[in-house]
Amino acid sequence: MATQSTTPDNAQPFSIPERALDRDCTTLSRHVLQQLQSFSPDAQDLSALMGRIALAGKLIARRLSSAGIVDGVLGFAGSENVQGEAVKKMDVYANEVFISAFKQSGLVCRLASEEMDEPYYIPENCPIGRYTLLYDPIDGSGNIDTNLNVGSIFAIRQQEGSDTTGEAKDLLQDGSKQIAAGYILYGSSTVLVYTIGKGVHAFTLDPSLGEFILWQENLTMPERGKVYSVNEGNFWDWEDNMRDYVRYVHRNDNYTARYSGALVSDFHRILLQGGVFLYPGTKAKPDGKLRLLYESAPLAFLAEQAGGRASTGTMPISEFVPKKLHQRTPLIVGSIKDVELIESFLNDRRE
Ligand code: F6P
Repeated sequence: MATQSTTPDNAQPFSIPERALDRDCTTLSRHVLQQLQSFSPDAQDLSALMGRIALAGKLIARRLSSAGIVDGVLGFAGSENVQGEAVKKMDVYANEVFISAFKQSGLVCRLASEEMDEPYYIPENCPIGRYTLLYDPIDGSGNIDTNLNVGSIFAIRQQEGSDTTGEAKDLLQDGSKQIAAGYILYGSSTVLVYTIGKGVHAFTLDPSLGEFILWQENLTMPERGKVYSVNEGNFWDWEDNMRDYVRYVHRNDNYTARYSGALVSDFHRILLQGGVFLYPGTKAKPDGKLRLLYESAPLAFLAEQAGGRASTGTMPISEFVPKKLHQRTPLIVGSIKDVELIESFLNDRRE
């Protein structure tokens, strides 16, 4: 007996739009090569560096997602870091993950992190490793125990000199020396945002594939935004001019406050929707809280690449030369008009 075909005569062969498939296959390492339009050794290195950072991000995301059901995610490690802050178990884990991700990579000889007093060297990479990784393994770690967003921040610099004494003087340079920077946000999804000086691009971790897949290219910050993001608990510790700015936004209906306690998530909102994040200095601590090399400078690179601005209040973050590895700076970052407005308050340039 002849079988009957169920396909209608006018049916088109099943096809997946080429663009959709191409996008699904745009992984982070492929995107870096596309950006550089080259398969040169430098381009391959940068692509491989981003691949290792992505691996660190996936390991951290996996561990965070099992908070409360596996040991070692919640709570304090029982020590203090170089800045005198209580270290959390996840700070220790994430710090080691980045080191481990770069072992036997031949890429990174030196790593400097917010959690380590001195730079860390991976000896087997040092004969050929040409890059230094600067990172904040878990930014906003105070949020972990309440299941709120945290992030990791990273920057890559060309390693200069062969200093292995731990002083790393060549790291004490301004932000223009960064060749790549970005962050991973562990939020309702895990998102990785990066720049290599060719725009800002965002990737989402697809848990079923275990890959960061392109989400949005060439992100640009609106010129102005509604959000101001600052810890107003410090209001009476600020200088008068800073307080004047905050009084101004209180009186102005165009502003609303948002503050999560994790720089990466507050910055991410501002990158997408505009506005300003600020962590000013106080009268007692004029340099503020945030670290230049692992927090302010990488985010400044991203902000500028997205058409925004980052300032200490008196100078661009990208021009600030640190005096020490764990240098702190005040940080005002976000939409260009909002940052300029704050600068005008701080520098008595208000009309
Ligand atoms: O640098 C660490 C950090 O947790 C940032 O992620 C965050 O923006 C800031 O400190 C929060 O500090 P505070 O609790 O003083 O507002």
